[in-house]
Amino acid sequence: MKPDEQCCLGVESTADDFGVGIATFKGDILANASSGYVPEEGGIHPREAARHHAEAADKVLAEALSTAGVKTKDLKLIAFAQGPGLGPCLRTGATVARALASYLDIPLVGVNHSVAHIEIGRLQTGAVDPVTLYVSGGNTLVSAFDAARYRIFGETLDIALGNCLDVFAREAGLKHKKGMPLGAALERLAADGEKLVSLPYVVKGMDISLSGLLTAATTLLHKDEYRLEDLSYSLQEHAFAMVTEVTERALAHTEKHEVLLTGGVAANKRLQEMLRSVAEEHDTKFNVVPRQFATDNGAMIAWTGVLAYTHGLATPVKESFVKLRWRLDKVDVPWIK
Ligand code: ATP
Ligand code: FE2
Repeated sequence: MKPDEQCCLGVESTADDFGVGIATFKGDILANASSGYVPEEGGIHPREAARHHAEAADKVLAEALSTAGVKTKDLKLIAFAQGPGLGPCLRTGATVARALASYLDIPLVGVNHSVAHIEIGRLQTGAVDPVTLYVSGGNTLVSAFDAARYRIFGETLDIALGNCLDVFAREAGLKHKKGMPLGAALERLAADGEKLVSLPYVVKGMDISLSGLLTAATTLLHKDEYRLEDLSYSLQEHAFAMVTEVTERALAHTEKHEVLLTGGVAANKRLQEMLRSVAEEHDTKFNVVPRQFATDNGAMIAWTGVLAYTHGLATPVKESFVKLRWRLDKVDVPWIK
């Protein structure tokens, strides 16, 4: 870090990852450390994940500070993911952030996790005013900025895209390993798929529904009639085509000139390919968040904290309660004009 450079430390803990990122006020990411909780079996257990976060916090903080070459006394701001997310996990991150801000006597700012996925995408790709497809374990949102907020143009009516892929992968016996999320393991199998199996395709207006698709794919899986590679491929093709269709319609409706793909599922090469081809057909620029910033990370919280704080927002400790269901379209984003 250059002398006199101001920087913000961001804490992410909305779900299974505990992350600490450090960003300068100019938008350089100096560190992005994290530790992931891997459940022994099944999905995330919020309290176990929270315990993991509490145990990992000091190590992840130390790693971020050492990578960035920053001393705590040089920090100007602490940001934390205030929501949406799992209660016990959010509270653990908020406690770490409050303690740091109080001890260092610097401002605290609560950040919306969904906004942060968009902002790190904009920072890393240079997209200015895109239609964003944000797809992760808990969210499937098509959004674009309009009149002070990120508006939601389309979303899932039931389960999120990442969750759909994860549940199917678990049913197929795939295991979540460090550095290999279930969606990525499924992507590998799908790459060897050859036969497209017909599955439910449900787009209602601007919204999609994935639970019928998941049930149908899982039922076929247990019938053992098709290769797992073919079913993985077919599940991806159907689900990705649905989100791509809605994104394309939002693009036509808003007449924006950029598309941004962000969130954990943005790491998927096939989804990137589908969205890129739609963007190109509309003569718009396609942007995808780099892999290391696609899944949950502290850097996106630190950077969104900088944007919020430098545009007049801060969160006094007594107002820093977590917001489990804080929707994207309820967040003011005064840094966008
Ligand atoms: P959110 O609160 O934003 O919903 P999250 O807890 O789901 O966040 P993310 O890290 O944003 O966390 O997204 C995780 C999801 O991304 C998981 O469902 C995971 O399987 C999926 N994923 C990661 N890599 C890939 C990939 N290569 N292909 C498909 N899905 C992927
Ligand atoms: Fe996320």
